[in-house]
Amino acid sequence: MRVLGIETSCDETAAAVVDDGPKLVTNVIHSQNSAHARFGGVVPEVASREHVARLVDIIEQAVAPVGGIQTIDAVAVTRGPGLVGALLVGVQMAKGIALARGIPWLGVNHLEGHVAAALLADRPPTYPHVALVVSGGHTHLYAVRNFGDYALLGGTRDDAAGEAFDKVAKLLGLGYPGGALLERAAIGGNPAAIDFPRALRQRASLEFSFSGLKTSVASYLRERPQLEGRELADLCASVQEAIVDVLSAKAVRAAKRIGAGGVAVAGGVAANGRLRTLLEERCAGAGLWCFVPPKVLCTDNAAMIAAAGWMRLSRGEHDDFATSVTSRWPLGNALDTRVRIKNRKTKPEAVR
Ligand code: KG4
Ligand code: ZN
Repeated sequence: MRVLGIETSCDETAAAVVDDGPKLVTNVIHSQNSAHARFGGVVPEVASREHVARLVDIIEQAVAPVGGIQTIDAVAVTRGPGLVGALLVGVQMAKGIALARGIPWLGVNHLEGHVAAALLADRPPTYPHVALVVSGGHTHLYAVRNFGDYALLGGTRDDAAGEAFDKVAKLLGLGYPGGALLERAAIGGNPAAIDFPRALRQRASLEFSFSGLKTSVASYLRERPQLEGRELADLCASVQEAIVDVLSAKAVRAAKRIGAGGVAVAGGVAANGRLRTLLEERCAGAGLWCFVPPKVLCTDNAAMIAAAGWMRLSRGEHDDFATSVTSRWPLGNALDTRVRIKNRKTKPEAVR
């Protein structure tokens, strides 16, 4: 089975092809960053229009090297969570292709897609493992018992980790999206220079909270409005350290608690070099393996959607034409009901 994957849940317009395995064949991504940068965040209406303008071309680029759309056996598309208008562009396109070609289509959960990026590796993670999904809208720890079998272990009470990176970068005037820019500004900085708060770090619970970090950076900046050079690098390195310290500590704690063999990290923040290094160190120290996908498969892409779709199709699943998009679509039920997930955000993942 050759599967075309489509991703339009937020501000990346992406298409990819996977063959049996799932094995990655092509992976095309168009980032809308430049269209949203002047607004300092994703504007839903702009995102939808950009998807409409770009999607056909992106799909053509993805299928051309494999002999065109005629060679595709099924279409997998992100059906949620995300921006409704943006999701509709991809889902309607997938249904159109399925209808015209008489092939199945399948709506994929974007979060399952992030977790499924690992399946495209030469040596994918074994089960059970803990997945740390860290993106612009999500910070979740899952027990992954098998493909399709997820239990939520914990999540953020307020801001997502990527959101924390983006908000601090905005405070510093680094630009948008802020995660990668803050990482770059942190190069050469001392991560121990400023002791920013690590909320819930010592608590046994697997919940996170990042909103206080932004507040404390804001008050630090009020006293030192003109940060530059070494001081700016120190601040960025210290913020980055505060975020990745908590993420990696809780991921390791989660793996130990459920008796998993290791930790797989996914989502845009997994592109962060310091998170990758610290998580690897701490996993090794705890006798756990650590899996981090290549960066291009961490940030939003359609290869991960095609991979998850291929897995579901190979189990005989597909969707009917009455199925449509959904802005909220949690992955898995809470495993430990004593751990209450108090994510007060009602916005979908994609809204930052
Ligand atoms: O998974 P993703 O591409 O989109 C969502 O599904 O949200 O994640 C985007 C998030 C943004 O918050 C971005 O700032 C963050 O991932 N990010 C990073 C890095 N690259 C992207 N955060 C820290 N360090 C990076 N290198
Ligand atoms: Zn994502």
